[in-house]
Amino acid sequence: MKSLVARHSLAMWVCLLTWDPLRRVLSFSILSHSRRWNKSIVRRARFSDELVDRRSLLSKVAIATMTMTETVATVLNPQPAIAAVDATTTIQGIRDARNTLTKLLENWEKAVIDCTFADVPRELLETKNKEQLLEKASTFALFDKSVSVTSCKTSNRLVRDYIGSTGKGPVVGLEKKLRQALEFVKDGEDTDMYVQTTENISQALSRAGSLSYAAGVADFASVNNFDVKETPKVLSNESSNLEQARRAIRETVDGLDTILPMLSETY
Ligand SMILES: *[C@@H]1O[C@H](CO)[C@@H](O)[C@H](O)[C@H]1NC(C)=O
Ligand SMILES: *[C@@H]1O[C@H](CO)[C@@H](O)[C@H](O)[C@H]1NC(C)=O
Ligand SMILES: *[C@@H]1O[C@H](CO)[C@@H](O)[C@H](O)[C@H]1NC(C)=O
Repeated sequence: MKSLVARHSLAMWVCLLTWDPLRRVLSFSILSHSRRWNKSIVRRARFSDELVDRRSLLSKVAIATMTMTETVATVLNPQPAIAAVDATTTIQGIRDARNTLTKLLENWEKAVIDCTFADVPRELLETKNKEQLLEKASTFALFDKSVSVTSCKTSNRLVRDYIGSTGKGPVVGLEKKLRQALEFVKDGEDTDMYVQTTENISQALSRAGSLSYAAGVADFASVNNFDVKETPKVLSNESSNLEQARRAIRETVDGLDTILPMLSETY
């Protein structure tokens, strides 16, 4: 098909294409013909308008010919319909993932501390208190809040659900959406920065996955009960996998907050 275009005489093209109204109408119809018509063409069209303003005939002919040859080639030989990635859906997906992770961080304590274990106080279990224990047991006083203490463990279950490690929720497929959204980065934004931030987000999310897994099997507080009063101490233990997972999730959200304003839904 392209050879068909080439076979037309250059003179005819030059006459036709330098006729500004026709060129503009054609460019416009092509631009509206497909939203996927890419940015380089749009930029080139803008660029050619500037040249026209400067009334440089040679440049005008060159640019117009270049634009039109591509234009005609595209009309005659349209690109196969690529499954169009919808900007709004993709960006909303990224926003949903960001909001899900933020909700997890805001409700961190509720999500990771599980206080359903009612323990009998240790001193009551000591041999010298055996009679006292039996007495309490016979009156069901053991189930009295004053006698039993609420004990807790850390749990990684909800964290793994929220960050998509269990294959559920809005964070699943986030990395793919971030890659797709590269084409929705606004003009004038730093594409390299977008790519690097995306890379950092992927790494942080993958660390959150492995750390949250380790939190369930290796953290002391996930295996051994602790008193509810010790919750702040447990949560602030920086060497626990759980706390490191929280930081990785924080980094993921910070990264998403950096890239979301760089995206535009109007592509
Ligand atoms: C944009 O258009 C140019 C020229 O037609 C083409 O080489 C390039 O592959 C296109 N880019 C995309 C992302 O479609
Ligand atoms: C990505 O992470 C690296 C290493 O932590 C850091 O040096 C860099 O500044 C980050 N880049 C962006 C764009 O956030
Ligand atoms: C902090 O967590 C680590 C890993 O589970 C554990 O070995 C350590 O005892 C904890 N430290 C405190 C003060 O709870």
